[in-house]
Amino acid sequence: MNPLIDNFSDQYQLTDKVCVVTGGGKGLGKTITRYLLEQGMKVAICSRNEETISKTVDEYKQTFEDNIIGMACDVSNSEQVSRFKQFVFEKFGDIHVVINNSGFGKDTLVWQTEEADWDDVMDTNVKGAYLMSKAFLPRMIENEEGFVLNIASQAALNGYANAGVYCASKFALVGLGKALQEEVREHNIHVHSLNPALIQSQKTSDETVDNGLIQNEDIGRMVVYLLSQPRRLKIDNIGFWGF
Ligand SMILES: NC(=O)c1ccc[n+]([C@@H]2O[C@H](COP(=O)([O-])OP(=O)(O)OC[C@H]3O[C@@H](n4cnc5c(N)ncnc54)[C@H](OP(=O)(O)O)[C@@H]3O)[C@@H](O)[C@H]2O)c1
Repeated sequence: MNPLIDNFSDQYQLTDKVCVVTGGGKGLGKTITRYLLEQGMKVAICSRNEETISKTVDEYKQTFEDNIIGMACDVSNSEQVSRFKQFVFEKFGDIHVVINNSGFGKDTLVWQTEEADWDDVMDTNVKGAYLMSKAFLPRMIENEEGFVLNIASQAALNGYANAGVYCASKFALVGLGKALQEEVREHNIHVHSLNPALIQSQKTSDETVDNGLIQNEDIGRMVVYLLSQPRRLKIDNIGFWGF
């Protein structure tokens, strides 16, 4: 028997660790944020809509007090990302985990996709993850510790009609993550992509759970699992489907 493995004593401790969740004001990002706060993490959320962010910060403050902060930030805008980084360092003083969750698609055929829509999707889903990683990695490298978690999709592994730009962006996000992993491995930094299929997100409170669809909570649990694994372990390509 190996006590290190058998009593889970080598699990990574999340309490008081600092995490950024992009798109943390609603949907999946909001749920992931709650799961991390419940672990005792300090979480900074951002997205473009200031009202959404303030509302979620106010809601979570009631239980988690000063462990939740947030500000408006368009992840595709380097100046805003830089301001967000400063805000996180001023308030929490460090960074351990970046979760690139902000993202969306356009339900259009490739040849009917507007150029501006192509740019918007790619800018948020891919450039946003690049800018966030670029902003926070230097401190992680200094710390010789960190975790970048990219919320990709099954659209990062499969092609779907009416989702050309979304698939292109999620394939690119996974590619970015795989390249980055090779660059930062020597600094004890993990880079991981999660690939969920369709989620029943943005549910109203009276809406029933569709058992055939993934719930935000399923992913919240998986994020906590992944982040708390011993850093000697590399887990890759986790997919999720409704059953
Ligand atoms: N729902 C699904 O079935 C599903 C399946 C697989 C993967 N995913 C992925 O999961 C992630 C979350 O999706 P969701 O279902 O929770 O969708 P959602 O509720 O629409 O959330 C998307 C989030 O991204 C933020 N966002 C969009 N553009 C942004 C930008 N330029 N800068 C900063 N934040 C931005 C939005 O906030 P603002 O509008 O305030 O900016 C929002 O908080 C996405 O990456 C999505 O691709 C979703």
